Amino acid sequence: MQNEAFPSFAIHYKKLLETKLTQFIHDLNAPAVMKEAMDYSLQAGGKRIRPLLMFATIAACNKDPNIGVYPAAALEMVHTYSLIHDDLPSMDNDDLRRGKPTNHKVFGEAFAVLAGDALLTYSFQLIADMPHEHADEKTKLELIRQLAKSAGAEGMVGGQTADIQGEGKQLTIQELEYTHIHKTGKLLQFSVLAGAILANASEEQKEKLTKFAHHLGLAFQIRDDILDVEGNEATIGKPLGSDSDKNKSTYPLLLSLDGAKQALAKHRDEACKALQNTGLNTVLLEEITNLIATRDH
Ligand code: IPE
Ligand code: IPE
Ligand code: MG
Ligand code: MG
Ligand code: MG
Repeated sequence: MQNEAFPSFAIHYKKLLETKLTQFIHDLNAPAVMKEAMDYSLQAGGKRIRPLLMFATIAACNKDPNIGVYPAAALEMVHTYSLIHDDLPSMDNDDLRRGKPTNHKVFGEAFAVLAGDALLTYSFQLIADMPHEHADEKTKLELIRQLAKSAGAEGMVGGQTADIQGEGKQLTIQELEYTHIHKTGKLLQFSVLAGAILANASEEQKEKLTKFAHHLGLAFQIRDDILDVEGNEATIGKPLGSDSDKNKSTYPLLLSLDGAKQALAKHRDEACKALQNTGLNTVLLEEITNLIATRDH
């Protein structure tokens, strides 16, 4: 039953997204080195889980996923910017990302900071530039508002701040949950909410999808913490033990590896439960949830 529809859906929409990402960077009238630095991290080969969640949510609402291609590219740009900055020496100081040297290792810190800035700002331009057939002006404005909220101080940036403040301290599980919900959960929540906004889902459906994404976000970051302990460096494409090197609080540290795995299973189940009785076709979203809970990279 599981994992039947998603793989072919993912191949198709990943290709569409990556073609668009290449084109959007190509279209920029900007210094060559900046386009190169932006493209380097964008094309380094991420899983594209956020865009795929957005496309799958639109499909769940029985609309054409193609209407999401601009905001999906925008979202992947915001996510990629967050990774470039997350890897900087002043933050997690990591040398490997998506199986390749990190952006600052190749382009230097100044251009890595600027490539992140450029990706973040371009994302809002792209949503504003969405074709009329994909979204009306009101929908674009709502997407921009929600992306800003999810990425900024109330969202990912707030979570990254808490993550840095927590270095060298043993956080409570509630404090760690705040970090995870914000640094990772908010952009994943935007992925789902944006799909629902684009597809004109009802308020009740948006509420249930937001709850789904809340648990999915926690499951995703708990899996990330577990992989930092027991993953395979070549497979995950980033250094193992990065969290313990920086004395970060993580689920495995606070709850043990087994406890972290139980918490992951609980959030996976809660995510799937939130999808019940939504009146949506949730097969793809359920498959993504199971893949996230068991992913090896
Ligand atoms: C990594 O995100 C950073 C976290 C929020 C844990 P992903 O695991 O989605 O990274 P890519 O995009 O596939 O490289
Ligand atoms: C970062 O979390 C989440 C972001 C906002 C980038 P991590 O620091 O755990 O992500 P990785 O493990 O470096 O991908
Ligand atoms: Mg980090
Ligand atoms: Mg990191
Ligand atoms: Mg991590």
